[in-house]
Amino acid sequence: MDCFVAALLAMTRVMSAISVFAPAKLNLLLAVTGRRADGFHDLVSVAAPLDFGDTLRAEPAKGITLECDDPAVPCDETNLVLKAASAFAKATADRRALAGASFFLEKRIPVGAGLGGGSSDAVAALRALNSLAGGPLGAAQLVELAAKLGSDCALFLHDGPVVMRGRGERVEPLPAGAAQRLRGRRVLIFKPEFSIATPWAYAQMAANPATYLPAVEAEARLVAWLGDARAPAEALLFNNMERAAFAKFVALPALLDELREKFGLAPRMSGSGSACFALLPEDAPVPAITAAVRAAWGASAFVREARLA
Ligand code: C5P
Repeated sequence: MDCFVAALLAMTRVMSAISVFAPAKLNLLLAVTGRRADGFHDLVSVAAPLDFGDTLRAEPAKGITLECDDPAVPCDETNLVLKAASAFAKATADRRALAGASFFLEKRIPVGAGLGGGSSDAVAALRALNSLAGGPLGAAQLVELAAKLGSDCALFLHDGPVVMRGRGERVEPLPAGAAQRLRGRRVLIFKPEFSIATPWAYAQMAANPATYLPAVEAEARLVAWLGDARAPAEALLFNNMERAAFAKFVALPALLDELREKFGLAPRMSGSGSACFALLPEDAPVPAITAAVRAAWGASAFVREARLA
């Protein structure tokens, strides 16, 4: 092959590679309302993507492969990127849309954190593949595929704050005025070294049904916040998954209490944990707050400033 052809081939490869941002999310409101016949839980949640997340690069290839810059992340079939790729291949098999893809994941979102990292990566994979294949799947089909991959995948098909219902797969954008109250808000996210497994957290609630918030009360909370144009993002914060997590992992409420007392913050856990977050006033003393997190949870604690997208 002469140099010109080789250069042309290299250029085509570069041009057909794609890079997709996979944001982390926070659950500002998370009300688990009860257990369903299928074993999952119904919930009402307001979730917002962040301007912080992973990056997934994909380029057309013969088979499907995944590499990651974080050796702790498994790159086998348990990874949601590969599950998404095989779901995409099945859904488009009749159209022979794409032979395969090689993925490279730049992992920034901590795992087992309640920040939606794996789910977001899966949706990034769907987006990348659909784009490389020339868009064979429409919006409705992407929603259907995302929902099958995980309860909180569908939210990542939206670019701003959403309301989630059902087991999390029924998603609608927050009305524009309400979204405006959230977008751009500064947050600090912090996670101890340990993680919390989502199935464990839901099982704790199932074992103690008193921790469910009845659906009518959850909807009333949401309606009250939506209806009050002056209510700040802080007034929305709620998470009834905290109770079980805080009872077992006492380092969580210990620090959150300290942040309330010392800095006047209103910190919460995100999703099923173990990551927590606090909305920050623009003049918040971030170095001092970070120092308090590290003093309580150790130097290995993850701390990251971001904004709601
Ligand atoms: O859907 P996803 O794979 O993220 O869910 C992981 C686990 O969390 C489920 O197997 C289930 O145990 C629990 N779950 C639940 N209700 C939800 C979402 C998740 O019980 N709405």
